[in-house]
Amino acid sequence: MCGIVGYVGPQDARDVVLEGLRRLEYRGYDSAGIAVVADGTLTAVKKAGKLANLEKVLAEQPLPAATIGIGHTRWATHGGPTDRNAHPHLSADGTVAVIHNGIIENFAALRAECEAAGVEFTSDTDSEVAAHLLAAAYEAGAEGQSRLADAMRVVCRRLEGAFTLVATSASEPDTLVAARRSSPLVVGVGDGEYFLGSDVAAFISHTREARELGQDQVVEIDRYRGLSVTDFAGNAVEPTSYTVDWDAEAAEKGGYDWFMLKEIAEQPQAIADTLLGRLGAHGELVLDEVRLSDEELRDVDKIFVVACGTAYHAGLIAKYAIEHWTRIPVEVEVASEFRYRDPVLDRSTLVIVISQSGETMDTLMALRHAKEQKARVLAICNANGSTIPRESDAVLYTHAGPEIAVASTKGFLTQLVACYLVGLFLAQVRGMKYEDEVAAIVADLRKLPDAVAEVLSGMDEVRALARELADANTILFLGRHVGFPVALEGALKLKELAYIHAEGFAAGELKHGPIAVVDKGTPVIVIVPSPRSRESVHGKVVSNIQEVRARGARTIVIAEEGDEDVVPYADHLIRVPRTPTLLAPVVTTVPLQVLACEIADTRGLDVDQPRNLAKSVTVE
Ligand code: F6R
Repeated sequence: MCGIVGYVGPQDARDVVLEGLRRLEYRGYDSAGIAVVADGTLTAVKKAGKLANLEKVLAEQPLPAATIGIGHTRWATHGGPTDRNAHPHLSADGTVAVIHNGIIENFAALRAECEAAGVEFTSDTDSEVAAHLLAAAYEAGAEGQSRLADAMRVVCRRLEGAFTLVATSASEPDTLVAARRSSPLVVGVGDGEYFLGSDVAAFISHTREARELGQDQVVEIDRYRGLSVTDFAGNAVEPTSYTVDWDAEAAEKGGYDWFMLKEIAEQPQAIADTLLGRLGAHGELVLDEVRLSDEELRDVDKIFVVACGTAYHAGLIAKYAIEHWTRIPVEVEVASEFRYRDPVLDRSTLVIVISQSGETMDTLMALRHAKEQKARVLAICNANGSTIPRESDAVLYTHAGPEIAVASTKGFLTQLVACYLVGLFLAQVRGMKYEDEVAAIVADLRKLPDAVAEVLSGMDEVRALARELADANTILFLGRHVGFPVALEGALKLKELAYIHAEGFAAGELKHGPIAVVDKGTPVIVIVPSPRSRESVHGKVVSNIQEVRARGARTIVIAEEGDEDVVPYADHLIRVPRTPTLLAPVVTTVPLQVLACEIADTRGLDVDQPRNLAKSVTVE
C-alpha cells in the first residue's frame, strides 16, 4: 500500500525514480509524485490519479536533472485522492520533502501543535505533519553530519502508528534518510549508488543486492559515505544483507496484456518451484527453513491459520488437509478479527500466518498478538525480506516470484502447496504418516504443475463464456468440502476485478436461504468434487446443481474428466484433470481466475489495478 522510491547516485534521479514508480504502481494508484534536489533547490511535482497523469505534467514542466530524488504512489487513507493530498509533502519553507506509507495515528494532536506554532497545512493527510515536524527538528538540531537523520530520529520517537518515511532536504543534497515502523522499506545497494523501495521491484533493474531494515530503524544514505542504520534512539544497528533471487524480467509483463494473465500462466512453474528441493533421499519431506524443532512440532495441540482475503481462503483449504493428515484441530480466522476476540493461545498453539506480500498489517498484528501469548508462529510467505517472515519463529517461503497484479493468483496456488507441505511435514514428524505415505502424496503434489498446465491449455471456452457473462448483475459460486473455499475465492476474484456482485456459498447451505436469490438466468458456478470423494458429497453437489437449475439458474459446472453425472445438468461444462480430493483446489481455482480476468477485460476494466484496491495492505 503506497509505493515508495528513493535514489541517490550518478544516474539521473528523475529517470530512476519514475521507473521505480512504474514498477510500484500496483501498490497504490490514487496519486503519484516526485521530488528532486538540484543545485541546492528542492522541486516537487505531484498529481492525482495514475502515474500517467504525473508523467503528462512532467512532460509539460520538466524537473531539473538531479542525482537525488524520491517518489511516491498513493493509496489514500487520510484525505481524498487529490493533487493537494498527493505526496511528497513539503515543509513550509519548501526545503524538506517527505513521502510516507502507513498511518500516523496521533497526527491530529501533532497537527494541532504545528498549527499552534503557526504552520499552515496544505493537505488533509496525516502524512504532512511529518514534513513540518522534520523541518522543525532539523532547524533545532546541531550543525554537522547526520543532521537530517538526527531530525528523523527525533520525529520518529514522537509518531504513533505505522510508517515508512523517506526524506530529502535541499540543505543535504547527497543524503537520503528513511525510517520504518511496521511498514515496509528495503535498501538497494548498487555500484556507488543507493535505492530505497517499499519492495525490491523498485530497484530490481539496477541491483539485486539489498539490505533489510528492522522494526523502528532509521537509515541514512550518503552518496559518498555509504549507508548507516540506527534504531530510533541513535544506537548503531547492522542491517541484514540479502540477494534478491529474481530478476527484472520477472517483474515485466513479458508480452501479456496484463500482469495477471502472465501470473496465471506462470502457475505451473511457480508450483514446481515451491516444491523444489523439499523432498529427502528416502521420500521424506525436508523443510529446513521451518526452524521449529521436531519436539516443538510434536507439542502442538492446536493450530490457528490466520490470513486475509485470498490468503485466508488458502487457510480454509489448509484446514481440511492438515486436520485430515495430522488429526490436530485447526481453526481458520481472518487476521483483522483474530486478536480482537481474545483467542485462546498458549505455548502448544501453532499459528500459521499466510501472506503473499509479508507486509499485510492485519496479519502482522495478529502475528504479534500470537507471539505475545507465547504461541509459536510459522509464516507462509512469498516476499523475501518482508516483515512477517522476519518476525515469525519459522517460515516456509513460496517461490512464486514477484506477483504484481493486485489480484492474487500464483500467490494463492503456491500458498496452497506450502500449506500441504506444512500439513504433511507435521504428520511426518508426529508419526501420523509413514514416509511412503508422505512420498505418495508428494508424488501427487508433483503432478500438479502438469495438471494446472492442462487446465490452462483448455481455457478458450472459459474466455468465450466470460464474454457472455460480462453483463451479469450477480454470479453465485457453490462448492462443498474443499470446493467451498474455492467458491469463496472465485467470488472474490470476480468482485475485485469485474465489480460484479458475487457470492460463494457452501452448496449445502443454499437451501437454508440463499437459494431465494436464484432467478431465471442467474449464472451459478458449481465446483463439483470428485466422484471418488468421501461420503457421496459428489452426489449431493449434483443434486444442488439440479436444485438451482429447477429455479431457472444458468449452470456453469467445473467437474473432473470422466464425471458423466453432471452432464445433463450443466449448461456449460468446464473440465479439469482428475486430482486427489484435498489437492483439487489447485486445479479447480484456475478456470475461476481466468473467468474473472476475462470478464473484467471484456468490461474494459483495468485488470491489474482494480478500483479502490492496492497490493499489500499495510494499514489496519
Ligand atoms: C485478492 C488479494 C487479497 C490478498 C490479501 C492478503 O486477490 O490479493 O485479498 O490476498 O490482501 O494479502 P497478502 O497475501 O499479501 O497478505
